[in-house]
Amino acid sequence: MNINHYYKYDFEPISKNLSSSEIKLSELENIRYIENPKYFHKETAYKKKIDGKISYYYYFSKIKSVKASLGTRYLTHGLDLYKGNFHAQMIRSLINYCNLPPKSIILDPFCGSGTTLIEANLLEFNAIGIDINPIACFNSHIKTKLLDVPLDFLISHNKKYFDINYYNKKNFTKFNFNEILKINIRELFYLFIYTRAISDETYILKNRFESFKDNYEIIIDILRNYQILKKQLRLSIGKTKIMHGDNLFHLKLIKKNIIDCIITSPPYLDVIDYISNDRNQIKYFINESEINQLRNKSYEQKYESYRITEKKFWLKIEKFLQEAFRILKSNSHLIIVVGFYRKMHENLSRLAKDIGFIMEMIIKREFFNFKGKKNHDFILFFKKI
Ligand SMILES: C[S@@+](CC[C@H](N)C(=O)[O-])C[C@H]1O[C@@H](n2cnc3c(N)ncnc32)[C@H](O)[C@@H]1O
Repeated sequence: MNINHYYKYDFEPISKNLSSSEIKLSELENIRYIENPKYFHKETAYKKKIDGKISYYYYFSKIKSVKASLGTRYLTHGLDLYKGNFHAQMIRSLINYCNLPPKSIILDPFCGSGTTLIEANLLEFNAIGIDINPIACFNSHIKTKLLDVPLDFLISHNKKYFDINYYNKKNFTKFNFNEILKINIRELFYLFIYTRAISDETYILKNRFESFKDNYEIIIDILRNYQILKKQLRLSIGKTKIMHGDNLFHLKLIKKNIIDCIITSPPYLDVIDYISNDRNQIKYFINESEINQLRNKSYEQKYESYRITEKKFWLKIEKFLQEAFRILKSNSHLIIVVGFYRKMHENLSRLAKDIGFIMEMIIKREFFNFKGKKNHDFILFFKKI
């Protein structure tokens, strides 16, 4: 499909260099234009202008750190360094494709750094996120909360927040995510900047204290610009609930037929060891034996042989798909992004169909990874009829 196709509707694309999968996604999201053309400039992910009106996405995409290397790490998406996260623009278009009624609930049972949750909230939907990694849960909680907390609530001149020893003395040996949620957002905000400094120390070998100071400035700047925009556009933001732990445990607690849409991405078998990646940050909250307990429940856990790793992984995925089918409303979508690794998309599609999902389509998405190498993954669209 030629990009000029958009002009038929008086759409101006966000970029003239969209890949073929992006063009496909940008066509899929047009269902929202057909539904309510007046509202589409607020929702689109791939158009700069709709009928002469600048899209909200275009404004959002300008608010990010100058150092943000990835094009779509705008607003609160780029505040942490979580590895293996989604492309926010893609998620926005997928939510649009699902064409949900107001107040819908979007679930991401492998929420990682919260990409689905943030986009759901920016589109005024409510979201539920689950992850086994405490840092993923903590970051997702903060990044969704910051979309709707005035800056005055966050900024403090209390010197304790700028003293690294203050954080070193904190003791979370009895980590309970529900207890963390009770701590006021200002306290959590500074703690978030501190844990981000720990990850800088790990990934970019930057001194923790320097990182804290730099990140504080950058984050405040992003939030200030966002809040000005939020006021101008009169944005209303949905709410997110995060649950920490094994998703097979939490999904069982969700009533049947109540979720409007699931957009998610499980680990790609054992390609990324999420717990090890964030070990230094996680250690701030919990001790080694608790870390090992989490690892035992992770989908990406490595066993003594690859054959066992693979077998246990697919058993878990099958159980997850069964739960997803149970909690989704009829006529709702389950959209899963998987890597091309070991033909995961084929196995997953077969299992989902056996459970009762209808396969709507597959999009092959090509992209350049962080090393600049050509890569691709698959977006699998299932529907519960
Ligand atoms: C591909 S990542 C998801 C990244 C996410 N889409 C984002 O944008 O950041 C997969 C996630 O699954 C999580 N995970 C692994 N085992 C899990 C389990 N048993 N329950 C819940 N989450 C789990 C990992 O911690 C990781 O964050």
